[in-house]
Amino acid sequence: MARSDLSILLSTLLLFLPLLTVAEAELGKSEKFPVVVSTWPFLEAVRAAWREVDNGSSAVEAVVEGCSACEELRCDGTVGPGGSPDENGETMIDALVMDGVTMEVGAVAAMRYVKDGIRAAWLVMKHSQHTLLAGEGASAFAISMGLPGPMNLSSPESLKKWSDWKENQCQPNFRKNVVPANNCGPYKPNNGGMDVSGGIRTESCEMGTIEYKLPLVGPHNHDTISMAVIDKMGHIAVGTSTNGATFKIPGRVGDGPIVGSSAYADDEVGGCGATGDGDIMMRFLPCYQVVESMRQGMKLEQAAKDAISRIARKFPDFVGAVVAVDKNGSHAGACHGWTFQYSVQDPEMDDVQVFTVLP
Ligand SMILES: *[C@@H]1O[C@H](CO)[C@@H](O)[C@H](O)[C@H]1NC(C)=O
Ligand SMILES: *[C@@H]1O[C@H](CO)[C@@H](O)[C@H](O)[C@H]1NC(C)=O
Ligand SMILES: *[C@@H]1O[C@H](CO)[C@@H](O)[C@H](O)[C@H]1NC(C)=O
Repeated sequence: MARSDLSILLSTLLLFLPLLTVAEAELGKSEKFPVVVSTWPFLEAVRAAWREVDNGSSAVEAVVEGCSACEELRCDGTVGPGGSPDENGETMIDALVMDGVTMEVGAVAAMRYVKDGIRAAWLVMKHSQHTLLAGEGASAFAISMGLPGPMNLSSPESLKKWSDWKENQCQPNFRKNVVPANNCGPYKPNNGGMDVSGGIRTESCEMGTIEYKLPLVGPHNHDTISMAVIDKMGHIAVGTSTNGATFKIPGRVGDGPIVGSSAYADDEVGGCGATGDGDIMMRFLPCYQVVESMRQGMKLEQAAKDAISRIARKFPDFVGAVVAVDKNGSHAGACHGWTFQYSVQDPEMDDVQVFTVLP
């Protein structure tokens, strides 16, 4: 907020000071501003966003600081540089920021050579009329607007993960109905034989049929930070950052930079963040669904559960979660296939609190 806006606000508040005591008491019951909500126990990210927003910054600025902290800390190895190698061993970044006041969105997808995903997304929002930049073009734009790069996003850990995977005949991977089925490519389409669907691989061998789940998205492959912030003015912003799915096919873009899927915000209603199997979740725009359900009058928790159950009806084995916040600062989560945790800080809390949601 600009300093002049602040002084106008302050003098307006002073005028109404006698009235404010009553109003404040009422607000205290139903509205909790500012508030920061994030997927997973990414405590430092929430604290970073909280420091910003508690100090008067806008919701967008706080979201950027919060997600950026996660990128620097390489939360879970799935946010920021140095994690989630693709089939070529490379790390790429997906990120998004959305302003619930203006409905402006900036996003980058499959961005190489630049580690600052959320800042790159913010630059797209601030300095272009576009919404989403992808690949080499996203990197070039981010660097031209002042972000450090080009740089190598691999780390010793990501390179080790990748070489172990290569030694394991490139298993598990995201290919389906291809030959060779259990060796590294080049792959060709294979109609018949092996079938892979919904994360369950069925393979026939002399012993009969074996079935096992691909551990591609799981408790230690959380996939995304998705964060929502309501600032002191009651404005909502959301943001996401991820380095995507481990051993993805190069070029894959997940739900992270897809607005309405990984995140959505509208000041009039609330905000939402999602995490999980992005390849499936992005087909349902779960965060758009949550916000629109709330707009139609559905209660917060029910809206979250409804968005998740729409996906589960079609993909019973999918793993994912959403966390939603309404414009009053109330929050709720829903999940499927795993136990989900999200983190919150609001004025009633001394520090971040973690909430657990059972499937
Ligand atoms: C809070 O805002 C004030 C005034 O803009 C600034 O001087 C101070 O450094 C900020 N504090 C933090 C922790 O960002
Ligand atoms: C990054 O560095 C690693 C290790 O030196 C190297 O194997 C890899 O090819 C580099 N990646 C790119 C995209 O230059
Ligand atoms: C938000 O608070 C207002 C004022 O107390 C209340 O009328 C409204 O029902 C609340 N909205 C939600 C979605 O809880």
